[in-house]
Amino acid sequence: MNPALLSLTKAPPLSVPLRFFLTAPLFGLVAAITLFFLAWQGVNPLAQRWSPAVLLLVHALTLGYLTMVMVGALSQLMPVLIGARLENPLRVSRVMHLLLLLGVLLLLLGFALQIPWLLASATLLLGLALSQVVVVTLYALLRSSSRHATVYALIAAVLALSLTWGVIALLLYQGNWWTPLAHPYTHLHIVWGVLGWMGMLLMGIAYQVVPMFQITPEFPQRWRQALVPLLFAALLLLTLAVLLELKTLAHLAHLMLGLGFAAFALLLWRLLRQRMRRIADVTYDYWLLAMASLLLAAVVAVIGEVAALLGFAVPAALWQGWALLLLLAGVLLAAIAGMLLKIVPFLVWLHLNHRFQRAGAFQGNIPNMRQIIPYQQMRRQFTLQLAALLTLLVALLPGWSGWLPEALLFLPQWLLMVAALLWAALFLLQFVVMVTALRLYRHHLRLLPGLLPEH
Ligand code: HEM
Repeated sequence: MNPALLSLTKAPPLSVPLRFFLTAPLFGLVAAITLFFLAWQGVNPLAQRWSPAVLLLVHALTLGYLTMVMVGALSQLMPVLIGARLENPLRVSRVMHLLLLLGVLLLLLGFALQIPWLLASATLLLGLALSQVVVVTLYALLRSSSRHATVYALIAAVLALSLTWGVIALLLYQGNWWTPLAHPYTHLHIVWGVLGWMGMLLMGIAYQVVPMFQITPEFPQRWRQALVPLLFAALLLLTLAVLLELKTLAHLAHLMLGLGFAAFALLLWRLLRQRMRRIADVTYDYWLLAMASLLLAAVVAVIGEVAALLGFAVPAALWQGWALLLLLAGVLLAAIAGMLLKIVPFLVWLHLNHRFQRAGAFQGNIPNMRQIIPYQQMRRQFTLQLAALLTLLVALLPGWSGWLPEALLFLPQWLLMVAALLWAALFLLQFVVMVTALRLYRHHLRLLPGLLPEH
């Protein structure tokens, strides 16, 4: 393990990231239950993207699950990876978590009940929560002496997060807080959110944690320096194209984004294959799954854009909907789940070590990382996630129900219900695994002669 990660003087208290990590799977569960009810009613979420239930499902995932984990991970990774120390991490994270939690709950309720003041208050609370994330992160990054590509990727990611919120807040305000907005600028909200905020954050973190945890060579330096600026420029170009209604420019910007992310996926895949660590590791499989999904999403998007540029009448909603599905369910959910399985046992072990050391107690009693979350448990979780993803993709594959005999027409709907149940089981398992790790931590702390307050 890289000694930089052992730098406990920089790591925030365990409760800082854990409060975010423990909340996230519960929102995942909300998303899975919503998917089940959609499937139950025979609704294909890709065909009714702007319905209140689908918006609820998408934001339970993007804000309640993914952003929640990412904010928690940032507070942990920034100090230890790039030496960007956070000020008052405990107090800041409490406020941030509360604002984000309340904001997401109100937003989901706003979508479900279609009540404008709920959407307005949610947007305000989320604006406060996210601007706190942006300010705290930028402040820490700009003060850090590191000039690693990760720093620039994180700066780009938080700027993208501000735009994600800014665009939708403006549209909602102009639309008197009613959805669907059905506005062309919604597309900017989606691309800045999914590709900017989440995509670039993922890149920045991967540049550091993949070589460190998977023992691979470094991500090629020239690519590392070029990719994020290139993708950021493509997002700016796309914004210009949407604002000025320039269709060809928009297709070209999409193409740049597709090719940029495809290059990232291929390079990271190659890096992972050069891994020097030979012990079986589920988090390695999670990275491969995420990169395979990213490559597929990029291929779908690039084919769609090229077809559109050549004048073929392929509905944009089809390839864009599919690319989005692959990005959310395939790339981001896999990368985050893998990251949690790496970070949580590591943090529990690290903090136990620290507490035992401070108390002058024998550190040999501390469980190792494989005892904190057993390997078999991780493997089961990965298998469940793979099954959930594949079932979801097959259930939503366009057009195949047209080939089915009448007696089997129920199949896509049933498969979607099965997929929803598998996702629900996965989020539940994720929650239980983390609670168990936390209980183990508390159990070992009780063995200490005098409990010390968290540093
Ligand atoms: C910050 C607070 C946010 C608010 C208030 C918000 C609100 C909305 C609204 C009202 C829509 C529907 C637009 C329409 O009807 O045209 C929407 C769509 C969408 N938002 Fe957000 N959003 C937020 C954050 C995010 C974030 C952080 C992400 C992703 C990273 C995201 C991803 C999406 C996606 C993917 C859609 C399209 C949904 C679909 O295709 O079914 N949102 N958002």
